Amino acid sequence: MRIVVGVTGGIAAYKATAIIRQLTEAGHSVKVIPTQNALRFIGATTLEALSHNAVDPDLYTDVADVKHVALGQEADLVLVAPATASFIARFAAGLADDLLGNVLLATKAPVVIAPAMHTEMWQHPATVANVATLRARGVQVIEPASGRLTGDDSGPGRLPEPEVIVSEVLSTMSPKDLLGKRIVVTAGGTIEPIDPVRFIGNRSSGKQGIALAQQAKLRGASVTLIAANLDTVPVELVDTVTVETAAQLNEAVMATLPAADVLIMAAAVADFRVTTPSSSKLKKSDLGDHMRIELVANPDILKQATIEIADRGLKVVTVGFAAETEPDRSTLLKIAGQKLVQKGCDLLVANDVSNGAVFGSEHNSVLILDDQKSALAHSGNKSFIADRILDAVVERLN
Ligand code: CTP
Repeated sequence: MRIVVGVTGGIAAYKATAIIRQLTEAGHSVKVIPTQNALRFIGATTLEALSHNAVDPDLYTDVADVKHVALGQEADLVLVAPATASFIARFAAGLADDLLGNVLLATKAPVVIAPAMHTEMWQHPATVANVATLRARGVQVIEPASGRLTGDDSGPGRLPEPEVIVSEVLSTMSPKDLLGKRIVVTAGGTIEPIDPVRFIGNRSSGKQGIALAQQAKLRGASVTLIAANLDTVPVELVDTVTVETAAQLNEAVMATLPAADVLIMAAAVADFRVTTPSSSKLKKSDLGDHMRIELVANPDILKQATIEIADRGLKVVTVGFAAETEPDRSTLLKIAGQKLVQKGCDLLVANDVSNGAVFGSEHNSVLILDDQKSALAHSGNKSFIADRILDAVVERLN
């Protein structure tokens, strides 16, 4: 999508860099329009480098391209962050004395502003009235955060963290086609203890699962994330169940299944666990040169879930994953088709993980199968892939 990011002249202008970076990393095309005063706080070169687009705030260059209108007409969303008290007053009055002001009057796209100023300025009746005018016109105003301001003072007026602003923007742009749906996503990799300090584990950063949970939330779903050994969980994913082992993951999935509309099994589940884990640390001196560990099979959670759904007549769309070391596409498709049938799931997402590809990376290439013969191929960052998987889920739900 095409996003115009307006930056106005306040100390928080430097935080726009993180916002611009996160929006481009999410796969959007970003055009930055700083005001002249914003350029006192942050350089055009920085904004150009981060947005990968030229930055020219002058209203009177490239006049033949009618850029003051074109930028507004072409935008899918306009964000102004930070938005100063002065900018808010000019926007509320409909002034078009610079490029940003013109673009805002020319656009029919959603407009989101993130005010940042001292508490007294934010609470001044003039600002309060201007913000109310903008809200009444449909402008989405992100409430400033409370906290330390430029000087020694603190209170409401801080620019919210870039992640909060980006999440609002992405949510505004997302279709709400999962509204009212309850989606359970498993992410990460289970671990099986050998003793209190050692374990057998699965390689999975959990990034694809987290991206699925985030995109589903943006598309209006209520999301439960079942997190298996994830380092961090994004703040917006409040409904998170933390698990370590396959047995705990199994229990969490079965508990959430009856209320779910969709189950996405992105977690890498350990197929085996240690039959009798030791309750105290095993000492090398007692083990000698060879160590034998007896393993016993874990339940196949996805397979059990699809059986349970059928037995109880539940309506849950199920999505499985298959990470295979198989670079040949037609063989990968064949393996994935077999796995889809064997697990009994509605959709299967297959990818090739040979040579360490995918794990921990921001990028993924997948095949999405909804039966044994047809598959859609997609490549892109993990948020993009998550959206394509959710498109297929929405189709199934409908
Ligand atoms: N899965 C599961 N329970 C298991 C193993 C896997 O629910 N004990 C789920 C995974 O979350 C994934 C799908 O099944 O969505 C496929 O996982 P994968 O490891 O590829 O399949 P396996 O059945 O373990 O087959 P194999 O390892 O032999 O390829």
